Amino acid sequence: MKEEQLNELLYQALETELGGVQIYEAAVRCAINEELKEEWEKYLEQTRNHVEIMQNVITELGLDPETETPGRKVVRHIGESLLQAIEMARTAGEPEAAQVVAAEAIVLAENKDHLNWHLIGEVAGKAKSKVAELLKEAHEKVEDEEDEHLYHTMGWARELWMESLGMKAVLPPPEEVKDVKTAIGAARAQNARSKMM
Ligand SMILES: [Fe+2]
Ligand SMILES: [Fe+2]
Repeated sequence: MKEEQLNELLYQALETELGGVQIYEAAVRCAINEELKEEWEKYLEQTRNHVEIMQNVITELGLDPETETPGRKVVRHIGESLLQAIEMARTAGEPEAAQVVAAEAIVLAENKDHLNWHLIGEVAGKAKSKVAELLKEAHEKVEDEEDEHLYHTMGWARELWMESLGMKAVLPPPEEVKDVKTAIGAARAQNARSKMM
């Protein structure tokens, strides 16, 4: 295991969660659909908890959570750009469109979040005992929530787009109704949407 690169992953994971908190705060302000708003409020709370979990992991490994790296700066830049995109849409005066932009921004941010935690899970299976234990414990707390953040929001983004096109939409989306937690489950849910209209 390349320790330095593992540290890089952890710093990026923390930065992703920090950006996620801001993105969810902005997204909640754009949510019109009540169920979606509740969902994003829940994800916001979970993401705040993920920040704490990552800060603890980094500190426990004897590292400084404030450490800057070029890669971390890139993650922050992307997060800030997504935030700006949401704000741009929110001030444009079309609430439905802003809600879709917020959903798309979350999908983009959660792709990175999901990848980080997948990699943390992979490392946990291979690292030296103390590190492995720490990562495994964190991963177990977070994994299911990350699946939900990504797959359910993908469903919302698609169905809100369908609705905006004047087509039949399944709201809440099938991913939500079927409580999808895997990529295969998301594909199945999407496949089943025609039967849910
Ligand atoms: Fe997260
Ligand atoms: Fe997430």
